[in-house]
Amino acid sequence: MNHNFQSAEKEQELATQFGFAERVRELNLAKYTYKPLAFVHTYGCQQNVSDTEHLKGYLEMMGYGFTEDLSKADLVLYNTCAVREHAESRVFGNVGILKANKRARPGMLICMCGCMAQQPEVSEKIKKSYPYVDILFGTGVRHRFPEFVYRKMTTGKRVFENPEPDTGIFEGIPVHRDGTFKAWLPIMQGCNNFCTYCIVPYVRGRECSREPEAVIAEAEEIIKGGAKEIMLLGQNVNSYGKTTQHKMTFAELLRRINAIEGDFRIRFMTSHPKDCSDELLVAMAECEKVEKHLHLPVQCGSDRILDRMNRRYTAEGYMKLVDRAKELMPEIQLTSDIIVGFPGETEEDFQKTLELIKKVRYYSLFTFIFSPRPGTPAEKMEDNESSADKSRRFAEMLRVQEEISRELNAEVIGRKVRLLIEEIDGDVLVGRSSENLVVRVNGNKEMLGEFVNAEITSFDGVLHGEII
Ligand code: SAH
Ligand code: SF4
Ligand code: F3S
Repeated sequence: MNHNFQSAEKEQELATQFGFAERVRELNLAKYTYKPLAFVHTYGCQQNVSDTEHLKGYLEMMGYGFTEDLSKADLVLYNTCAVREHAESRVFGNVGILKANKRARPGMLICMCGCMAQQPEVSEKIKKSYPYVDILFGTGVRHRFPEFVYRKMTTGKRVFENPEPDTGIFEGIPVHRDGTFKAWLPIMQGCNNFCTYCIVPYVRGRECSREPEAVIAEAEEIIKGGAKEIMLLGQNVNSYGKTTQHKMTFAELLRRINAIEGDFRIRFMTSHPKDCSDELLVAMAECEKVEKHLHLPVQCGSDRILDRMNRRYTAEGYMKLVDRAKELMPEIQLTSDIIVGFPGETEEDFQKTLELIKKVRYYSLFTFIFSPRPGTPAEKMEDNESSADKSRRFAEMLRVQEEISRELNAEVIGRKVRLLIEEIDGDVLVGRSSENLVVRVNGNKEMLGEFVNAEITSFDGVLHGEII
């Protein structure tokens, strides 16, 4: 990776970290008679999955191999998510379990990072109640992981580092890619939108884009390495390119990556409706490598609630985007995120969400019951609806969506699609189309990671097809 896309200070910082990684590797050589193993688990969104690939890159530099077996781990790293309370309780539960592992393997290092670790309340709680956690670091200092391991190893003191996440982008951190034919490519980090329910802007800091040259160079490298799919990542990819020296819109970036030679597919997430431009939809339609699928989280169908959420669009504005996308790409499939039970949501508001779901006809939905997050404006908003009402609405929404999904799946029967075979399930190959349809076909195992043309033949809860 060429890292001439950042300041001399950052280059220097990175060199310092590589130095720490090398020293940790030497310490490990002296400490172990075998290659020490790291157990890494990621919670949360694709952004975290991508960060984990960088942290694993560092772990490799420090001399670690990887294991899926916790009882064999010499180092445990949990990369955590704070987006809903449920996500946090799972992490606390799983960290609690490590107490026994540590007792069985006293030399083991326990590390926690990511969005939860960024929160001061969480780091206090870990410091006090989980004494066997050795290292905790926030999202803003993840580029300093080798230094933290070195400090713990040489001083024996616990490390807690979670300053404000305002360091911007670090280029050149090594990557350990988990997939061979699918690659994550972060194009930006942070978020400036401050949706009133959301913790992300607090734990991820301000929105910051990578220089287009850095993104394009990495995309070229990924394709040269044989990958068939690139997933471009950001909390709000539609506002890409505002902080870079070289200005470029997301639509233009798509066109540039689309122009890279090779047979591959480009996917992206997440798009915020308020920044979804016509230029982007046109680029999607015109770029043959770009997926014909749009994940466009609406959250709610009531303007009153959208306003309280600080989403900065209306249901009508949203529908215009959807209609335009369908006009430009008749084969497109849409997906969305919805929050049920936002403070102040009435039955009438909820009915508007159902109406919108029916009008858009989403292929699938990610649905969440509102979870108050500490420090966000929505945490303090009055919430009079009972949890029984929220659960009833949630179940009703799933019923409506199930019906729509069934109809859409019936409508695609007979359609010819190009599948990237992602998985082998027994004798069956499982592939994904450009519209994000998952189709099961018969074929030989060598097709894993390859594109095949297929015709969709039936739906019985899952789509089936035949290779043509
Ligand atoms: N940046 C992305 C979303 C990241 S979080 C976007 O704007 O679309 C993923 C989803 O989690 C959000 O779209 C939202 O639906 C849900 N979510 C975020 N905070 C939540 C909360 N406090 N309670 C319930 N769901 C939440
Ligand atoms: Fe959260 Fe809104 Fe930013 Fe998405 S756009 S990460 S929902 S604040
Ligand atoms: Fe969770 Fe952080 Fe992603 S809070 S959803 S892992 S940005």
